[in-house]
Amino acid sequence: MRRGSIAALFGIALVAGGVATAVALVPTWLPVDASREGGRIDFVFWFVIAICIALFSVVVAVIVYSVLRFRARPDDLEDGPPIHGHTGLEITWTAIPFVLVTAIAIVSAIVLSRNDAQGADTLRINVTAQQFTWTFSYPDANNATSPVLFLPEGRSVELYMRSLDVIHAFFVPQFRLNEDIVPGLVTNLHVTPDRLGTYPLICNELCGLGHSLMRTEAVVMTPDAFAKWLAKQKQEAGAASSSSGSGSSGTSAGLAVFKSQPCATCHTLSAANATGTIGPDLDKLVAYAQQAHQPLAAFIRESIVNPNAYIQPGFPKNTMPQTFAQTLSAAQLSALVQFLVQSSQKASKG
Ligand code: CUA
Repeated sequence: MRRGSIAALFGIALVAGGVATAVALVPTWLPVDASREGGRIDFVFWFVIAICIALFSVVVAVIVYSVLRFRARPDDLEDGPPIHGHTGLEITWTAIPFVLVTAIAIVSAIVLSRNDAQGADTLRINVTAQQFTWTFSYPDANNATSPVLFLPEGRSVELYMRSLDVIHAFFVPQFRLNEDIVPGLVTNLHVTPDRLGTYPLICNELCGLGHSLMRTEAVVMTPDAFAKWLAKQKQEAGAASSSSGSGSSGTSAGLAVFKSQPCATCHTLSAANATGTIGPDLDKLVAYAQQAHQPLAAFIRESIVNPNAYIQPGFPKNTMPQTFAQTLSAAQLSALVQFLVQSSQKASKG
């Protein structure tokens, strides 16, 4: 090969590699990295990108050089020269990708195993996913629950995730971690947050009409702030369990149940400032019960525990979770029914 040809190939490869590197590095493609695991995932990502850019440069150089140098002239009607392969080339283009793919596999395996390794003093949090909401419960605080995931900075956290209905997926882009949540299984996810802040926590598996609304936040706090928050949750959870049964009677208890459940994602109810539109408007329950020819309280109770028994025309079947008979206690259910009876009667008059 002439020296000029080699210089040309190198030149094209450098330009192609430079352009590809600029495209990779200049725009900010990734959100901030807020976990130790995320840092390792980013390393694998950039490792693969670097290999891709190198391969891209070689391929572009060979294509551009061949098109310029070996193209058929307008008046050239000859067949090309016969080619019978090139053993050296074939060995090279098999061996190099083999080495690169093996390197990616080894780096990925090391990163995945280090990401799964729990640190000392791991915090356990139980995650419950259901259409279309998240609940986080803290065994260290009498299983106090929270609709937002609070995490301490710098501590190893293991999530134990369950679904009450269909397949969901836990995803916090800033943690670079994603895991499916499958009914009947407990799936795990290990994360060590290392950056204070509030990050979106989204469901990453199409799970029904409210999928796009199934999002909350992960809040990374300083260890001190987290310890204080956890202690407060523990106290409140203790107080709630000791006073349950007697409970704050009437509508405030029902409102609390309404707010602790995903109702507001799908339903409008002015008494709870809820504005969902996927399911029937709960301000109109009085009229709906009349259309269904049922007494109001019985109609509301059945619609919660057995939602497919009567479907309000214009709304889809099988969208309301069918699990409330199992997940709500009898006291919670009664309080919720009472609250909905009173608030819908008030709304129908107002
Ligand atoms: Cu849950 Cu999408």
